[in-house]
Amino acid sequence: MIELINLEKDYFIKGEAVKVLKGINFRINKGDFIAIMGPSGSGKTTLMNIIGLLDTVTKGIYLLDGLDISTLNDNEMSELRNKKMGFIFQSFYLIQYLNILENVMLPVYYSENNPSKYVKRAHNLLEEFGLLIKLKNKPNQLSGGQQQRVAIARALINDPEIILADEPTGQLDSETSKNILDYICRLNEKGKTIIMVTHDNFVAKHAKSIIEIIDGMIIDK
Ligand SMILES: Nc1ncnc2c1ncn2[C@@H]1O[C@H](COP(=O)(O)OP(=O)(O)OP(=O)(O)O)[C@@H](O)[C@H]1O
Ligand SMILES: [Mg+2]
Repeated sequence: MIELINLEKDYFIKGEAVKVLKGINFRINKGDFIAIMGPSGSGKTTLMNIIGLLDTVTKGIYLLDGLDISTLNDNEMSELRNKKMGFIFQSFYLIQYLNILENVMLPVYYSENNPSKYVKRAHNLLEEFGLLIKLKNKPNQLSGGQQQRVAIARALINDPEIILADEPTGQLDSETSKNILDYICRLNEKGKTIIMVTHDNFVAKHAKSIIEIIDGMIIDK
């Protein structure tokens, strides 16, 4: 499903290249649940952004279902991202001036001509998370765990094949973390491919496999 071949990423700071990813070779199959671990600054988020089609590579090849991503223009990349990827972040990234329902619907506003047909699905997702009573609330009126559940509902609204989670439980207490993790595990059981960054061994143990990135390179664990 995903194949990364000799992938490199440089960032340019004041015209000078800084090598962040230094030759990543990796395959992710449908239904995998992978935890990515590694020290701060090792390149985990950079790799997630590339896999999630939020950023491009400097060198190497990224094949997504056999398609060479470098052949796509910005619009095609956004379209594919919206269709295939769901994102969960450490700090939720909910839009404060939109209510909960609008936040969950956000990806469909971008991708669909007729977003209204997704309202039912948004309701169903929020109901599953016990958040139906909060539809009209703003994100800052919810607890951290509730906000992360809204973010997960948003990640799922387009029914993506791949869920990218960057420290999804990083800001949550251990009980709430467990609930969110259990939910992520259930998504995997239902066939979603999960790629999750974490620094927490307990969290990583929920994945089917763990890879470690050190200084821009993958070390198999
Ligand atoms: N937009 C950018 N411009 C320049 N350098 C960047 C940029 N984004 C990240 N970097 C650098 O790339 C390196 C890897 O960053 P990255 O965010 O991928 O690390 P990480 O493994 O996710 O770390 P953390 O665990 O702290 O989240 C760091 O040295 C960082 O300073
Ligand atoms: Mg990071």
